Amino acid sequence: MTSSAKAPAAGRYPAGGLAFPHRDLLGIGGLETHELLFLLDEAEQWVELNRRSSKHVDVLSGLTLINAFFENSTRTLLSFEIAGKRLGADVVNMHAATSSLKKGETLIDTAVTLNAMRADAIVIRHASSGAVALIADKVDCPVLNAGDGQHEHPTQALLDALALRHALRARGQDEFAGLCVTICGDILHSRVARSNILCLTALGARVRVCAPPALMPAAIEALGAEPFHDFDAALCGADVVMMLRLQNERMDGQFIPSPREYHRLYGLTSTRLARAAPDALVMHPGPMNRGVEIDSDVADRAGTSLIVNQVEMGVAIRMACLDVLTRRGRGVAGWGDEAKQWV
Ligand code: CP
Repeated sequence: MTSSAKAPAAGRYPAGGLAFPHRDLLGIGGLETHELLFLLDEAEQWVELNRRSSKHVDVLSGLTLINAFFENSTRTLLSFEIAGKRLGADVVNMHAATSSLKKGETLIDTAVTLNAMRADAIVIRHASSGAVALIADKVDCPVLNAGDGQHEHPTQALLDALALRHALRARGQDEFAGLCVTICGDILHSRVARSNILCLTALGARVRVCAPPALMPAAIEALGAEPFHDFDAALCGADVVMMLRLQNERMDGQFIPSPREYHRLYGLTSTRLARAAPDALVMHPGPMNRGVEIDSDVADRAGTSLIVNQVEMGVAIRMACLDVLTRRGRGVAGWGDEAKQWV
């Protein structure tokens, strides 16, 4: 299987190889709706491949992928590693805890060092908003943001959209338009919330965000989301409920009275879920704190919980992003001369 085997639907994307003209994937902000759809469509072939017994192709053969994670991760790091390996790349993981950062090396010097090793793509997670863009500015290859501080986590939003699209299609619905999605949790510190608001609204969904006042960013409406502090009101008639954990590692001080009180007001229980639309879909990017933001019977409910599907779609989305972003370097046919102008 090659990525060129599945041509995009005629007319869905601009002609001339401009379906995705960016060198890097730094965020959902700044991407056009057709660019989001292009990445989702490209991922479908990898969903198929990943469900086969033999999962290896040589699309990225000879290329070197560096995963540089300056913050902890299970899902994102492993799925980028699996994605790169399934596409045939040589994958190297740099662990910040055992790197020369501990000896005082700066982030910029680290970026220059990775660049000198002639990586063909670099995936970066960092605790500071904007750090990934800073590194992208210093290197010559595509950079993919695996989460930067409170800013963005673009591949998470894309995998969430892909999992949701699969679930909607299984119910005979092919559109995000008109869908009501409630995102509840620590909206203030969440790059997942930010990327999902941008992605889901671009795809046509209506997004509500719900959090205690201390965990709701100011002017969230500017991103296109409707804010709520009352979870029961935010759930009313929602088609999809996305729960987020409390990001204690980003909290400086006391933001909630106690985990128990938080669960009472903002935890997703089966009783509370009954306020949403019948058979409302439940999502969570992980890692979950069971009994705090979500109860196990809701998280594990077959037929409505997409949490495991989200993880599956994460590998396919990351394969699509790695494939698409390295195409120009690989000289893949279909990328017109005009697409060589990175934006
Ligand atoms: N959803 C997510 O980013 O999970 P990890 O922190 O495990 O990568």
